[in-house]
Amino acid sequence: MAQAQLANPEAIGSPYARIDGPVKVSGAARYTADFNLPGMVYGMPVCATIAHGRVVSINTARAESMPGVRVVLHHGNRPPLYRAASGSIDERRPPLDDDQVRYYGQYVAFVVADTYEQAQAAANAVQVTYDAQSPDVSPPADEDTPNTESTRGDAQSAFAQAAVRIDAVYSTPVETHNSIELHACVAHYDDDTLTLYDATQGVVNQRDVIAQMLGMGIENVRVISHYLGSGFGGKLWPWPHSLLAAVAARMLGLPVKVVISRAMTFHSAGHRPYTRQHLRLGATQDGRLVSIQHHYLSQASIRDDYREGCGEPTPRMYSTPNLSVCWGMPRRHVGAPTSMRGPGAVPGMYALESAMDELAWALKMDPIELRLKNEPDHDEGKNLPFSSRHLRECLEQGAERFGWHRRQAEVGTMRQGDEVLGRGMAACTWPAMRMPSEVRVTLHADGTARILCATQDIGTGTYTILAQLLSAETGIPLDRIEVGLGDTRLPPGPVSGGSAATASIVPAALSATRKAVRAAIKLATKKDAPYAGKSADDLVMRDGRLALKHDQNDPGVPVAEILTDAGVVSVAGEGQADTGADAKKKYSIASYGAHFVEVAWHAATARLRVKRVVTVIDGGRILNPRTGRNQIEGAIIMGIGMAMLEQTHYDHRSGAPVNSNLADYLVATHADAPQIDVSFLDYPDVVWNEVGARGIGEIGLAGFAAAVMNAVYHATGVRVRDLPVKIEDLIGAAVQA
Ligand code: MOS
Repeated sequence: MAQAQLANPEAIGSPYARIDGPVKVSGAARYTADFNLPGMVYGMPVCATIAHGRVVSINTARAESMPGVRVVLHHGNRPPLYRAASGSIDERRPPLDDDQVRYYGQYVAFVVADTYEQAQAAANAVQVTYDAQSPDVSPPADEDTPNTESTRGDAQSAFAQAAVRIDAVYSTPVETHNSIELHACVAHYDDDTLTLYDATQGVVNQRDVIAQMLGMGIENVRVISHYLGSGFGGKLWPWPHSLLAAVAARMLGLPVKVVISRAMTFHSAGHRPYTRQHLRLGATQDGRLVSIQHHYLSQASIRDDYREGCGEPTPRMYSTPNLSVCWGMPRRHVGAPTSMRGPGAVPGMYALESAMDELAWALKMDPIELRLKNEPDHDEGKNLPFSSRHLRECLEQGAERFGWHRRQAEVGTMRQGDEVLGRGMAACTWPAMRMPSEVRVTLHADGTARILCATQDIGTGTYTILAQLLSAETGIPLDRIEVGLGDTRLPPGPVSGGSAATASIVPAALSATRKAVRAAIKLATKKDAPYAGKSADDLVMRDGRLALKHDQNDPGVPVAEILTDAGVVSVAGEGQADTGADAKKKYSIASYGAHFVEVAWHAATARLRVKRVVTVIDGGRILNPRTGRNQIEGAIIMGIGMAMLEQTHYDHRSGAPVNSNLADYLVATHADAPQIDVSFLDYPDVVWNEVGARGIGEIGLAGFAAAVMNAVYHATGVRVRDLPVKIEDLIGAAVQA
């Protein structure tokens, strides 16, 4: 694919502020729970208080007699719901489907009442009796990894014969997505059409799946998600509360609002599953990898098959003749896990990059040098060339910016006041993905333009990026461009997931814009029009005007004037984009990067802080360095949470997630934020799309926790193999300030 010939190339790569910023900071942006419709009533789930067993009886008499109560749904009286045959959903069983309870907090009833408080009170009054069995929520520790994901050579023998070996087990805990915006859905059924205002990262998938589960045609379901208070993967696919809101709205003929509580978010709206990863690395004395074994367990729920693909990056990451990646999926009485930012690679790279650090220590080799020494010249897993891989430069540039060369290699030797400093690094990667997309662009007689797509902006900058793409082909300034997203009435767009939305939209947006411009040019070259007699190929749109392509002195004619003179109010163009499957057959396409972290360990008070971070990302062309940097910075803060704070604890007797609130489930806050230095290499990946964008939403979290733990080891001599690091892991450290 050729490099872009954009009419107004400066619109790409400039640090525009988010165009949706003003409505967000002024409170004008309406999030899902802000929608209030006439006659609206409120739904409240009733959550199981056991994690394993059966509902014996549900007594709703008291609840039904309470003020304002409209209906109490349960498995005995719920209207029909079906399983979706296509589309994505992680908890496949429809809510209230049978009397079985397979995780704590599973919805066993659903109360609808006139006010939120009435619904809550009545939900508390529903009496459920259970036949309870003891749940198993214990972290799996078996070694059963029967499924092979990737293999080459003979990893086991090569490991056995290797001069230097690392053999270690790493684990990552259950992590729960804690977006500031709670999960919410407002459902409204009218004239055979169901409208769902739904806090979702994917309006089109939400519509397709919910329509199938309700037994409705997709033309009769509309899903709207204009603004999202973050999702992190927790809002990628439908969860039971949205189905219940839809069922109740259809049944009652009234708008129904459901906002689930923070605790319910921990029960029944997904989590990153527990992983246990056994890494075995074998190397020669001079630091060449001869074998990598990455055998991992991804804990699943009883009924669903979500797997955290920890081994996804491993086969392409380093050169080695022998490799095996295998997995197992032990089942526990927990809610269905789901994607959390960087699913697979984030826990996977924690383990791999920790093991690489352990190997560097065993070899007495600098960890950057170890990585450089094992840099592959092609993807040895897929046996394909890399489209664009600049990990080497990320490592070198990051080392330079961080001052890595001033690091004293011995453990615990770098002091500052009464603290010990530790410096660690890790590499990161994230695969490139694309999803089918359609975009519609219209240019208007008043000089404005619109660009429309049923994708959504989850806070990452999609509104702004789409305006930039339209501007890049027209020169129309961003403040004259209206972007329409988050509504299934628009042309179907991608989910905001997999760091794929931007790369997916680019080809469709550029193609749609070019077709709209072409339509304007057609008017401009008609008889009596300003460019009558010219060929369409001679004209271009720049600065909002049509002008002669090869005559820079031609001031051109405003497109608004051409439309007005022709008596039309707008011209339109539509563009499509595919999944990029052809490019993926020929190339290994992924982003890379490197993290450098400095921690400070204050032994007297057992205080560990991340002080300073340098991250360099090779993410292809960065369309907007301001929104791009913000993605990486956010991922780094989330990475501090992953390394030091986040963990969902289950009570082994009840199976309940016990720290299901923001007081007990700790996430990183501003006070935990270090000094962060993010830079981008900005090599366009033109194999992937013509501007060369790959995606940057998730890569910043991959490898970050490893960089922190590698720094912790450098400071304290303690190797943390179970996240998050706890005070008790470090208080026995030999290194004391
Ligand atoms: Mo992301 S976990 O694909 O929202």
